[in-house]
Amino acid sequence: MKVSVQVPATIANLGCGFDCFGLALPLYNEVSLEETIMPGSGVEINILDASSNNIPTDKNNIVYRAIELLYNYVGQAPTELKITIRTGIPIARGMGSSASVITGGLIAANELLGKPADLDVLLSIANEIEGHPDNITPAFVGGVTLASIEETGSVTYRQLPWPKDWKVTVCVPDFELATDISRSVLPEMVSMKDAIFNLRRASEFVHAIHTKDEELMQLAMQDRLHQPYRMKLVPGLNSIMENLKHTEGVLGCVLAGAGPSIAVISNGKNVNEIKEIVHTSWNNINIDSKIHTYSVETSGARITKGIRQF
Ligand code: HSE
Repeated sequence: MKVSVQVPATIANLGCGFDCFGLALPLYNEVSLEETIMPGSGVEINILDASSNNIPTDKNNIVYRAIELLYNYVGQAPTELKITIRTGIPIARGMGSSASVITGGLIAANELLGKPADLDVLLSIANEIEGHPDNITPAFVGGVTLASIEETGSVTYRQLPWPKDWKVTVCVPDFELATDISRSVLPEMVSMKDAIFNLRRASEFVHAIHTKDEELMQLAMQDRLHQPYRMKLVPGLNSIMENLKHTEGVLGCVLAGAGPSIAVISNGKNVNEIKEIVHTSWNNINIDSKIHTYSVETSGARITKGIRQF
């Protein structure tokens, strides 16, 4: 039996919703799992099209580790398995590449095992490996989500509406930034003033997307909990935010997840100018970039192939 699962890219945080908000994009990784029939053949991991060659292909691979947890959940261990990971999502760019392959591996393994786990169990296992429910949740269910990890380890989430016309311009620079480095610059404590600032912005965000309120969204997409600290890791971020502030149609400019990509939310009317501004700002400091505008992907992970072999 072979199962393939296609999983969307995700952008976490969306400015004010640090470690909570996320959305899915129509850009995908695919994970295929195949039970190999040869006893003793072990676990084989193949990574196709990967732009980074630092991804482990042994039992330290995050897809394998997630699958192992699911097998353990049903009292088994993965023995003869072929895992194939095809990457279409840029790696270490803040677009949820890790979350997507973990999600794909878990859904595929769950199929192979006869679906012993429900979505809650899968989300919780995925989160145990990935640690970021704001990426994991939209990868599983699509759309725009809010998500939190409870003390029990379970993930509480809800899907939020998103105005159809609102677009996400994703600007990917030519350098990587590992999430652990991007988290290492965050402070242990923040001031009450900054906590209240984000609380206000996150509340405005939720209302703005329910009511398609562009003016409110422009206020809502600000953050004081993570972006100010991460600025130094992403050259040009500050000036790009400044340069886009008065551009017509821009509703917000935020760091994509932990960076280094930048996501510009707009009402969709001025995407070429947005692209030009970001490209030129980075180009001026010798950073090359790839920039594309997307609608939010409303579907989450889906099984693309499930073939029973005889
Ligand atoms: N919310 C997480 C962070 C996402 O910003 O560190 C990591 O992809």
